Order: sequence, then C-alpha cells, then structure tokens
Amino acid sequence: MPSLLQLFFPIFFLIITSCQAQKSFRPSALVLPVTKDVKTLQYVTTITQRTPPVLVKLVVDLGGQFVWIDCQSSYISSSYRPARCGSSQCKIANAHSFCSTCNNIPSPICSNNTCELSPQNGVTEFITGGDVTMDVLSLKSTNGYKPGVSVSVPQFIFACTRSFLLEGLAEGTKGIAAFGRTRIALPTQLAAAFSLHRKFAMCLSPSMEAPGAIFFGDGPYSFFPGSDVSKSLTYTKLINNPKSTNGVALRGEPSFEYFIGVTSVTINGKQLPLNSSLLSIGKNGVGGTKLSTVAPYSILETSVYKALTETFIREAVSRNITRVASVAPFGACFSSKSIVSIRGRLQVPSIDLVLQSKSVTWPIYPTNSLVKVSDDVMCLGFIDGNSVEDVDNKPRASIVLGGYQLENNFIQFDLATSRVGFTSMPYEFTAGCANFRSSV
Ligand SMILES: *[C@@H]1O[C@H](CO)[C@@H](O)[C@H](O)[C@H]1NC(C)=O
Ligand SMILES: *[C@@H]1O[C@H](CO)[C@@H](O)[C@H](O)[C@H]1NC(C)=O
Ligand SMILES: *[C@@H]1O[C@H](CO)[C@@H](O)[C@H](O)[C@H]1NC(C)=O
Repeated sequence: MPSLLQLFFPIFFLIITSCQAQKSFRPSALVLPVTKDVKTLQYVTTITQRTPPVLVKLVVDLGGQFVWIDCQSSYISSSYRPARCGSSQCKIANAHSFCSTCNNIPSPICSNNTCELSPQNGVTEFITGGDVTMDVLSLKSTNGYKPGVSVSVPQFIFACTRSFLLEGLAEGTKGIAAFGRTRIALPTQLAAAFSLHRKFAMCLSPSMEAPGAIFFGDGPYSFFPGSDVSKSLTYTKLINNPKSTNGVALRGEPSFEYFIGVTSVTINGKQLPLNSSLLSIGKNGVGGTKLSTVAPYSILETSVYKALTETFIREAVSRNITRVASVAPFGACFSSKSIVSIRGRLQVPSIDLVLQSKSVTWPIYPTNSLVKVSDDVMCLGFIDGNSVEDVDNKPRASIVLGGYQLENNFIQFDLATSRVGFTSMPYEFTAGCANFRSSV
C-alpha cells in the first residue's frame, strides 16, 4: 500500500514547483506610463507601493539622484522599514553623513538610528532631509510589445520626507521618480532587483491623456506592429560631468545627470556662430548639453540663445514667415497663418544638434521646435538662460534640452556602456510615444 504521502507527493510537488516558477518569473523588461501635467508641464508617472498597495504619482526627474516620497501625509504601510545606520542599504544609498534621532511618536518621518539623505525638489531646487527607507514597490513587466504581469521589489530604497517639499510639483504627485546615474535611482535599483540590462528608455508623450512610456531593461520596444525601435537608434556617448549642476548643496559632487556632446548647432544646415568652449564641460562643471525632464522647454546660455533665435528668425523670414510680437517666456514668435504645412509637416527652418561628427545629428523637428501659444501664434520653444530669475536656478549647462524638445523622441540610456541611443518617432504614426499602451 502506498502511504498517503506517496499518493499525494506528485500533487505536492506540482504545487511547490508552480509556486516557485511564479516566484522566479524573471521579466526581461519593465514599463511605467508617463503623462504630461497640463498646469506644470511636468511628466508624471505612477508606481504601486506599500502594503496594502496604493498608486503613487511621482514627477519624472531624469537627473534625479533617488526616489523621494512624502511620508508625512497618510503614509500607511505594514511593509515599510527604515534603513538602520551603517546597514548595506545606507551604503548603497551613499548615506553616510547623518543618522537620525527623533523623540516623537515613531512614524515614517520619525525614527531613531536611520541614515539620511538630502532629497531635492528638481523643480524648485528646495532641499531638505529625509530618512532612507524601504518598502515594496510594484510595476508592470513587459515583453516589449505590451505590458504584462506586475512584479515587485520587496525592499525598494527611497527617501521619506515631509510634505512641504512637494511645493511646485504637479497636483496629486507625492514626490520624485529619479532616473539619474546612481545606485538607488530607479534604473540601477530595478536592474539589480531583476537582473536586467542596465538600460532604460524614455518616450515622452506630449498628450495629457495618452501616456508615453519609460522602459527598464533591453528591447524590443515595439510601438507599432512589427516594429522594434531599438533597431533604429543613433548613438552618442554620455559625457561625464565632474561637478553636479543641480542643487546648491550638491555642487562639487560629480553629476549624476545625463550630458551629451553637442559640437555645433545648425539651422537649415548653416552652422550657428557659437563660442565652442561653451559646448564642452569646463573644469568647474559649467557648460555642455544636458537632458532634462524638469525643464518644460530647452534653456540656452544667453549667447547660444541669441545665435539660435536670430538665425532662426532670419531663415524663417526668408521663407515668408511673419514674425509677430513675442509671447513670454519665448522670444521669437510667428504668425501661424504664414507657416505652410505639407502633409502635416510645418515648413519651418530645421534645427540640428551636431554630435561626434557632421553625419551624427540630433534633429529637432518642427513639432519639437515650435510651440502653439494661441490659434494665430507659434513660438520657437527655447528660453534664454538669462531670463531664469533665481540665481541658483540658472542652468549651468549651456544647453538644457527640455521636455518639449524630447517629446516623441525615443531615447535609450545605456548605463553599462555609457551611451545614449535616440530616434524620433515617425510622423506617419501621429500617436508617437503614446502608441505603446503602457497603462493598460
Ligand atoms: C529614540 O530614542 C529615544 C532615546 O532612547 C527615545 O526616547 C525615543 O522615543 C526614540 N524615538 C523613536 C521614534 O523611537
Ligand atoms: C567663450 O566662452 C568662455 C567660457 O564662458 C569665455 O571664457 C570666453 O571668454 C568666451 N570667448 C569669447 C570669444 O567670447
Ligand atoms: C516670398 O514672397 C515673395 C513675394 O510674394 C515671393 O516672390 C517669394 O517667392 C516667396 N518666397 C518663398 C520662399 O516662398
């Protein structure tokens, strides 16, 4: 007679192995949806966090150092854990300097012996203290064609901070989703948790309703049937900036932001007369070209701005495009009626950022260069760095490529090889970045 155990063993075995299979499901990539906030023009993503799980909206900061979240207002979670001073999490977070003490009722913003970071609001540049904290974070896996099952990181490291730091961020958001080159920003932490390639890719949608996508891990990235954008990328090196350019308190540390090597700028193929030393990064960290998702429009050092607008205006006027009064914050505006459109493409001067050689350019298409400010007026969507009032907010990069110029471009950041791949989403498919149904 077989024993009960022998009878049931195969069933037991099946149950156990299927559980293990589920547990060890290793996604090849992950995806987050990104929408644009109408009021602030910030890009907002949604993660799932805590136990029981809640949806948390965060502002996307490409150059952000680590995720930080408001833990002061209604942070309720049974899986929340502060990182003890000296723990491996504090080391990974590079949080060595401060150890918290708090004599109030223990809460996510009040604990003893917890290592601390200095969360910064990438928009206002306010900076404060925050406890290094761990909690479960979930997001969708993807095969590159559509979102799949949700996967979780049980102890995702972030900084817990106070509500006032949210000032200036899009309504309903609870903090910053950081994508900078650090060990605890989303790309590296997620890559480590799921053994993904240390790559992430961003495709920002200009639409408030139809989200774009941010991918973690390698391609395929398919926005249209039978297509894989990762096959049509142009590559350029990421440039290291030895000095951080955002945040007063952080200046002096190496930058964890993303810089690329623009060597010249052309309009209709004509090279702008630029002081070339502005295009490279000086010893003090000033200069160069950085990518930013918190600047709604590109910000240019004042002499670069003047050269760009003057040349653009001259080329536009020679095409019989009529200049009209400027509409702040822009300095070069045109009558929409005077701009010809052929099959949906505006016939305006073409702007190209020239990279490592003349044949490698980052084209800024009309949809990324001109901003419709009213029914009758379109403006060149670049801002003079001198007009940015707060001295500490003045961009130290000569060219800050902002959100409007990045929209409907697919941009892959390869952290392991330190390069960026980019391509514009084809015009023929007007939904562009929103074609990946990231939020389904
Ligand atoms: C921190 O430690 C002090 C001294 O031991 C204690 O009085 C206080 O309640 C502790 N705070 C928390 C949040 O546990
Ligand atoms: C070019 O820019 C550098 C850095 O700002 C400055 O030191 C230099 O004087 C500029 N040269 C010219 C010719 O304007
Ligand atoms: C601009 O307008 C003038 C006068 O109407 C015309 O002769 C010329 O061909 C136009 N130029 C372009 C580029 O359309």
